[in-house]
Amino acid sequence: MDFLKENSLEVYLSEDEIQAGIKVLAEKLNKIYGEEELYVVCVLKGAVMFATDLVKYLKMPVKMEFIRLSSYGSSYSTSGNVNAVDISLPNLNEKNVLIVEDIIDTGLTAKFLIDFIKNNFQTKTLKFCSLLDKMCKRKVDIDADYYCFEVDDKFLVGYGLDLDGYGRNIPNILYKTDVK
Ligand code: IMP
Ligand code: MG
Repeated sequence: MDFLKENSLEVYLSEDEIQAGIKVLAEKLNKIYGEEELYVVCVLKGAVMFATDLVKYLKMPVKMEFIRLSSYGSSYSTSGNVNAVDISLPNLNEKNVLIVEDIIDTGLTAKFLIDFIKNNFQTKTLKFCSLLDKMCKRKVDIDADYYCFEVDDKFLVGYGLDLDGYGRNIPNILYKTDVK
């Protein structure tokens, strides 16, 4: 399948814009955490590109953890059922924890994760950051502590975000012009 040829995709955020947004966020995080150790919890698979780029700009001691969630639904919408494929984490008691997501849509994944960590650990701090925030789609009352870009209600692909598993490797973020 030639993913790019078979889909009507236009650039929504360029590689340069994405990197610039991540650098701004990293500078903010460097100021907030200073020299304190930070556990970065990357939510696979979507946040893989964002988390790995973000940590390169962080100056404090960083430990990276990876958890894998999926929310099954149709190609273009989340089901609302968050499925923890692998959520094994070390002891995060008394640690600064930053959850790193690709996009917040309904907010259900964010809520699930924040509740999971709060129920299992007594962290020193717990913050949630997302590369993208589709605020207009929110179903639960939850906000990212930090995000790089607020985005419209469009289906986005690239830079970790997938369409049926494809497109995560595209360096830009594209939108599908034929779906809302
Ligand atoms: P939420 O639980 O509804 O907030 O959805 C979060 C998850 O839905 C994200 O981690 C993505 O995996 C997926 N998602 C939401 N919007 C998009 C999109 O536009 N493109 C690709 N995946 C998306
Ligand atoms: Mg995701």
